[in-house]
Amino acid sequence: MSIQPLDALPLETLRRRSSTKWRSFPHDVIPMFVAEIDFALAEPITRALHEAVELGDTGYTPPQPGVREAFVGFAERRWGWSVDPERVRWTGDVMMGVVELLRATVAPGERVVVNPPVYPPFFDTVAEAGAVVEEVPLLDTGDGWQLDLAGIEAALAAGARAVLLCNPHNPTGTVFPREALRELAAIAARHGAVVISDEIHGPLASSDTPFTPFLTVSADAEAVGYVVTSASKAYNLAGLKCAVIVTASEAHARIVQALPWEVEWRTGLFGAISAVAAFSSESDAWLDALLARLDANRRLLADLLAEHLPRARYRLPEAGFLAWIDVSAYGWGDDPADPIREGAGVALHHGPFFGSQGRGHVRLNFGCGPDVLREALQRIGAFAREAAAASSAGTVAELVSRR
Ligand SMILES: Cc1ncc(COP(=O)(O)O)c(C=O)c1O
Repeated sequence: MSIQPLDALPLETLRRRSSTKWRSFPHDVIPMFVAEIDFALAEPITRALHEAVELGDTGYTPPQPGVREAFVGFAERRWGWSVDPERVRWTGDVMMGVVELLRATVAPGERVVVNPPVYPPFFDTVAEAGAVVEEVPLLDTGDGWQLDLAGIEAALAAGARAVLLCNPHNPTGTVFPREALRELAAIAARHGAVVISDEIHGPLASSDTPFTPFLTVSADAEAVGYVVTSASKAYNLAGLKCAVIVTASEAHARIVQALPWEVEWRTGLFGAISAVAAFSSESDAWLDALLARLDANRRLLADLLAEHLPRARYRLPEAGFLAWIDVSAYGWGDDPADPIREGAGVALHHGPFFGSQGRGHVRLNFGCGPDVLREALQRIGAFAREAAAASSAGTVAELVSRR
């Protein structure tokens, strides 16, 4: 039986939201930059939050909020991953978990490998922990991206202490294959390094590219790995603040247990309540409908780019609702998001924020209704045609400044 794709909320409703996506630009700009999505919450989440509001249940998160049991159930159902509940701790959000793990595992001044182009806060978070970023860029294979395992090995052999992995990868949408993760774990084990795997986009892997949690790939991965993840990307709960940290080895579990209690106290009660509802089997049907919508949208985007922006380069992401698009052929400079926003009224994320590999790129959030996606690509296409016509008479910058 085919699954009916989830419908997005109408724009008039979305424009009443007060989150970053809807309050950063005037309403005539289509917001497709930050990673929030345009759907009503899954009903079990709405129900749980309504009940909490009615009760005035707005105090501190209790010692056992049920997050670990809910995550254990979700990991088993969706990925066949058996997580020991004793190896799950929680905190306010994924990047809080990452920074605390870095503080616990890497000394100030030591190097941490990241794989750009990558989620911009990875750079800041390594610095926040007092460590230093070592870039080992993804390899562009021509029809996808892969980890540069030889480059990572060289970095660890030269003294880097940790790898901050993004799996599935933001912004490319790559779901790393089991063999690559196994090799990464073996490399880290050989050099006594740790792998902190940010798996926030894991629930959003498309059915044709199943997601592999890092801790499931080998005994090496269990020994070197930490996973930080949450329900917040798939279920649009970023403002509510709850994420989980998962370990598999006794030694890493001890390190996580030794983190200050404050790490757990930063969990928002609404975050915990909504994570329990999101991870419950009652929300599975909503997630499947979302995945059907995202699958349709990533393909629609390919068609719309072919029609309106034929010189753009885009590969179907294997997970998530973010598209990494190379528009350098249009000559809109290193950071095309600016001229596109000003000239087309569509706010995309800035490619260079993801590392120097992002020059000439934009990141587009297609977690929206198909009509919004069509309108955005029509606008960008019209801008591209005007810009091409204007380039004989003047520059794109002049075209933008005339608006
Ligand atoms: C890879 C990745 N990690 C972390 C985050 C942020 O998660 P949190 O708000 O839980 O820190 C995002 C948000 O888009 C993300 O894409």
